[in-house]
Amino acid sequence: MPSIGELRRRALESLSRPSYSLASDKMLLLNDNSNLFGANPAAMEVAESFDFSRLWAYPSENSDILRQRLALEFDASPTEVIVGNGSDELLDIVCKSFINPGDVFCQPAPTFSMYKFYAQVNFASVNEKVSNDDFSLRTDDILKERAKLVALCQPNNPTANLLEPRDVRRILSESEGITILDEAYTDFCDSDMLADVMAAERGIDIRTFSKAYGIAGLRAGFAISREEIIDELRQVRTPFGLNSFTEAVAVAALDRKEWAREKVQEMKVERERLSKRLQSLGFQVYPSECNFLLCSSPMRSDELVGALRERRVSIRDCGAYPLLENHVRVTIGPRALMDRFLEILGPLMAEVSK
Ligand SMILES: Cc1ncc(COP(=O)(O)O)c(C=O)c1O
Repeated sequence: MPSIGELRRRALESLSRPSYSLASDKMLLLNDNSNLFGANPAAMEVAESFDFSRLWAYPSENSDILRQRLALEFDASPTEVIVGNGSDELLDIVCKSFINPGDVFCQPAPTFSMYKFYAQVNFASVNEKVSNDDFSLRTDDILKERAKLVALCQPNNPTANLLEPRDVRRILSESEGITILDEAYTDFCDSDMLADVMAAERGIDIRTFSKAYGIAGLRAGFAISREEIIDELRQVRTPFGLNSFTEAVAVAALDRKEWAREKVQEMKVERERLSKRLQSLGFQVYPSECNFLLCSSPMRSDELVGALRERRVSIRDCGAYPLLENHVRVTIGPRALMDRFLEILGPLMAEVSK
């Protein structure tokens, strides 16, 4: 009989999957860019009036109420919207819908590592195009790949910068295949390229409730695109993908955006302060349009991340990404949390520089 390993899907053999820190009250989790300013109060409000006795019933197949609310929000038709169990699910669904074994998937590097993961799981041949030193795209190189699927992140994780809109527009309009534009961090900056995605024939704008909206634990994301593309995505999506409580909270979070807006403002103030403090500790900090900072570490990034983990702080080691040797990424949170981080980081840096 073949071993389980021999039964494994061949596309999974060379797969590398990022590891996530265990969610734990005891760790200071500054590694996943969730909303450290807290859970959206819309969740608690909905819980008070939600009819839990109806949980025996399935939700609507395609989360119709949330889709309608999103359509209103983004001036689209509900038929141009699809929701998923986190935007991660939608990234997987896009790959499932469009990739045939061996089709070329192209992404810049460094960028969010899960694009490549889902493309590989779904049998794509992955070609990464390392960006320029200033993290701008090598647009011609990406276009030359004539990929079936291109994934871009605007602003980009983990480099925290905005891609040049002109480059994004060129890829959207000149690619023969599908272009994912992941705007997971759009609420933290002034950029919004939905209109460009909709103007292009084959773009998909993907967004999430996990960041500014503060409900990562409920798992909700959405994609907006032309109806023809959304129809394709619906073919492969599992029915009833989003649970009814999450759907109700996501709607309420959109109805009460003040909380998210307020927390984004607080985050920006803290981002500025943390950036200065990290620079004074010897880090080179990049400008950020997101709720995290990318920094070049004065010591080896794996050692820094390991030493912090021993002290119950989790930050992301980006050292294995192209262009990011010895770089780390830190999620921004409220002042008290950042002070706790600095109280641990400061003495650690003093110790290693002795
Ligand atoms: C760029 C980007 N896209 C998508 C996601 C996934 O978010 P979700 O929680 O909606 O699956 C993340 C999460 O960190 C991200 O950074």
